[in-house]
Amino acid sequence: MAALKEHTRLNITSDKISVPIYVGNDIFSEITSIISLKNYSKVGVLMDKNVAYHWGEAIHNVIGKNAVYITIPAGEDHKELSTVEKVLTSMLEHGFDRKSLLINFGGGMVCDIGGFAASTYMRGISFVNMPTTLLAQTDAAIGGKTGIDFGGFKNMVGSFAHPIAILCDTLLLSTLPEREFRSGFAEVIKHALVSDKRLFYTLAEEDFGAMDEDKLADILSHSCKIKCTVVSKDADEKGLRKILNFGHTIGHAIEMLSQDTNNPLLHGEAISIGMIAEAKLSLLSGLITKEDFERIENIMAKASLPSRINKSYKNKIYSKMLGDKKNEKRKIKWVLLKGIGKAVIDEEQPDKLITKAIEYILV
Ligand SMILES: NC(=O)c1ccc[n+]([C@@H]2O[C@H](COP(=O)([O-])OP(=O)(O)OC[C@H]3O[C@@H](n4cnc5c(N)ncnc54)[C@H](O)[C@@H]3O)[C@@H](O)[C@H]2O)c1
Ligand SMILES: [Zn+2]
Repeated sequence: MAALKEHTRLNITSDKISVPIYVGNDIFSEITSIISLKNYSKVGVLMDKNVAYHWGEAIHNVIGKNAVYITIPAGEDHKELSTVEKVLTSMLEHGFDRKSLLINFGGGMVCDIGGFAASTYMRGISFVNMPTTLLAQTDAAIGGKTGIDFGGFKNMVGSFAHPIAILCDTLLLSTLPEREFRSGFAEVIKHALVSDKRLFYTLAEEDFGAMDEDKLADILSHSCKIKCTVVSKDADEKGLRKILNFGHTIGHAIEMLSQDTNNPLLHGEAISIGMIAEAKLSLLSGLITKEDFERIENIMAKASLPSRINKSYKNKIYSKMLGDKKNEKRKIKWVLLKGIGKAVIDEEQPDKLITKAIEYILV
């Protein structure tokens, strides 16, 4: 793609896959260079209604009226089978075939839904991820996991399928609500905690509320690079990649439980609380020091991320966790920290310590 404006190019490369990732400011119009790489029979643009409101006209001006624009409702509670069905129906009605392309233009919810729809339509068509939230640019759009919530469990049904390219434009983040923006930092902090001590200490010095554009782009590329490196080494999540699930065993349980309340948590918020609990479990198992644990609590507070949950959740978290797809033979396999910047996987823990870690996050 010779014409692409100034950007950082990263790659996910393994023996099976090679996915270019372009990170830059005001580069979203370069999607046309990706589209023109092949003679696609149809191009679809999938958005949720908020992205359509803020960026629908801009993307329309870039891609043009020949594309098919599909809009779905916004929010985690729509990351479900019926929404996938709507997307598939739209593709079918508009005559999409195996040579068609779907562009997922949105946050993690749109990337997960669109990736799943594209990977199953006619047994799989090409798709591009154009993430519009910090969380999706640093995490959800990268790595080839797609899926939906099902039967009350997070990401229970899905597929492994990589986009042909990922285009991360930080300009798109300018319309992102503050709360969503902060939620995205949870995954950036996670990347630092599990594999990059230096990034953690850089972040610990940051003013999360007043980060300038260059700094943000720098941190974003760094965080994306961590995800790319991990995914490149273990695309199928047989080993190393599991470190990226830190905070997600308890976090996913809390996220799903909160969907049934008046105050549903955002993904990053639930993961923030999950990371505190799982860091506590690491402390209780003697894997990290009290000082490191305090550093972790401090960084979440500095990023204005939540660290506690109402005690009414107490008896529900454990049973929700038991249904998690990451378990084997109903045994919970934990990702724990072994210091800042290092994680260990497949840890089993006694119920007594798990209960203590969960009790710690209750108020
Ligand atoms: N597949 C993966 O590897 C992976 C990794 C991490 C998270 N996830 C999933 O990602 C989801 C969370 O992603 P998310 O935080 O991006 O949530 P999201 O996609 O629901 O977006 C958050 C909110 O921001 C709005 N929005 C998006 N872009 C906007 C913009 N530029 N301006 C204004 N509003 C905008 C959306 O409409 C929505 O209301 C969860 O379902 C999580 O499970 C997946
Ligand atoms: Zn996550």
